[in-house]
Amino acid sequence: CLWVRNLRLKRRLPGPFAWPVVGNAMQLGQMPHITFSRLAKKYGNVYQIRLGGNDIVVLNGDKAIREALIEHSTEFAGRPDFVSFQAVSGGNSMTFSSYSKQWKMHRKIAQSTLRAFSSANSQTKRAFEGHVVAEATELVGIFHSLSAEGRYFNPGHALTVAAANVICALCFGKRYGHEDEEFKTLLGRVEKFGETVGAGSLVDVMPWLRSFPNPVRTIFLDFLDLNRQYFDFIQSKVVADRETDAIIGVIEAEGNTGLTEAHTDSTVSDLIGAGLDTISTALHWNCLLLAKYPDIQTRLQETIDREVGRDRLPTMEDRSALAYLDAFTYETMRYISYVPVTIPHSTTSDVTVDGLLILKDTVVFVNQSSVNHDPLTWKDPHVFDPSRFLDEDGRLDKDLTNNVMIFSAGKRRCIGDQIAKVELFLFLAILIHQCHFEKNPSQDLHLNYTYGLTLKPLDYKISAKLRGEPLIGT
Ligand code: HEM
Repeated sequence: CLWVRNLRLKRRLPGPFAWPVVGNAMQLGQMPHITFSRLAKKYGNVYQIRLGGNDIVVLNGDKAIREALIEHSTEFAGRPDFVSFQAVSGGNSMTFSSYSKQWKMHRKIAQSTLRAFSSANSQTKRAFEGHVVAEATELVGIFHSLSAEGRYFNPGHALTVAAANVICALCFGKRYGHEDEEFKTLLGRVEKFGETVGAGSLVDVMPWLRSFPNPVRTIFLDFLDLNRQYFDFIQSKVVADRETDAIIGVIEAEGNTGLTEAHTDSTVSDLIGAGLDTISTALHWNCLLLAKYPDIQTRLQETIDREVGRDRLPTMEDRSALAYLDAFTYETMRYISYVPVTIPHSTTSDVTVDGLLILKDTVVFVNQSSVNHDPLTWKDPHVFDPSRFLDEDGRLDKDLTNNVMIFSAGKRRCIGDQIAKVELFLFLAILIHQCHFEKNPSQDLHLNYTYGLTLKPLDYKISAKLRGEPLIGT
């Protein structure tokens, strides 16, 4: 019978002993991705843990993850039917809905929207780059004033506002001042989003924790509330701008496909949400690492000064000459792995990986950080060294950069990877050209963080002094 078959198959997956009721929840610790890698050393790259009532398969290492996500892309394209996932983007999120015909259409529309930002010579692409330059130059001024009189500051909030403004300017034709308290509060709440949907969150796997007062219930209620507030904000802007708006025009031009207006709103909401937290987190780590590794910062500044000069700002046209800057971005992605585990997946049918059978509808955690520290792929994986990505001629080694896994792979691969790289390049090129980042000599700069869908650096302070007169525009 089916029950006996399932029991037999389940036994075949290795994994740690699971306690009644909680399973392995108490063993995950503060850094679940590190725990997952440690467990892989004992049980192999494909193993099973139990969280509350869910059996979950954890995938680790370059080989097993690529085998699963690329060779069996359809089987791993599902999302679990978690209650928290249904609260995102008014219940119509593409990112958090499972594999279906409708999801495929929704993803296609979101992809073609983003293509407008990166296709050569398009107006949207130029507008996008223009907004990044405007926000980056504004940041330079803000960093300068926050560093006045020898002060040190945490750049986190300013970076979040800057990243949010790029996408709001593009979507709604409106940006918000760094002093706009209402906007800052909204963004502060969105920053907490990843606590609930990150792999290892207990909100969905132990539903009974939601029924009486405890910290998990508080996180869940906050999550519902922040999603409502955020989606209301997006909807009010979308409704206001439906007639004139560039991005909505692109989405709805594609729209004769059975998706409703609600799907347009959720596409805008998905794209803004996905781009906001990831980009600001990336920039946050980049600033911290520049201050922590002054020799690397000096090499970056010398490279940019040599290729761009001091009398104009860097532009996208400089990118091919600034391979070391791309190398720095890739090394930050690899070394920090600031999206350590993907959004949880689920299997759409029975599937075998690394010789082990995984049943249909199994929740799957994909430990990206284990790929980025896999000793079979990387020499000295625990050393931060951007130059590992340059070949003998100083060019970016594409084979090596392709080995970094932060945008996932297969059918659920991030659709914003190209514009994310453009945005990071422009922000960083301008910030490094204009500012010198320094740590407070009386404090050690640590790399501690809080865990969630993205890793957030824990409180630290730096200064960012101007490297000469600021240049506004090129
Ligand atoms: C999904 C990473 C920026 C849009 C994802 C996923 C990861 C990721 C790990 C989950 C993949 C999976 O579940 O297997 C990143 C990183 C970024 C970034 C590291 C920046 C450094 C962006 C931007 C956008 C975007 C700028 C759009 C403007 C999306 C969307 C999905 C997604 C829509 C959902 C795809 C799906 O479920 O089919 N991203 N992302 N991302 N990302 Fe990104």
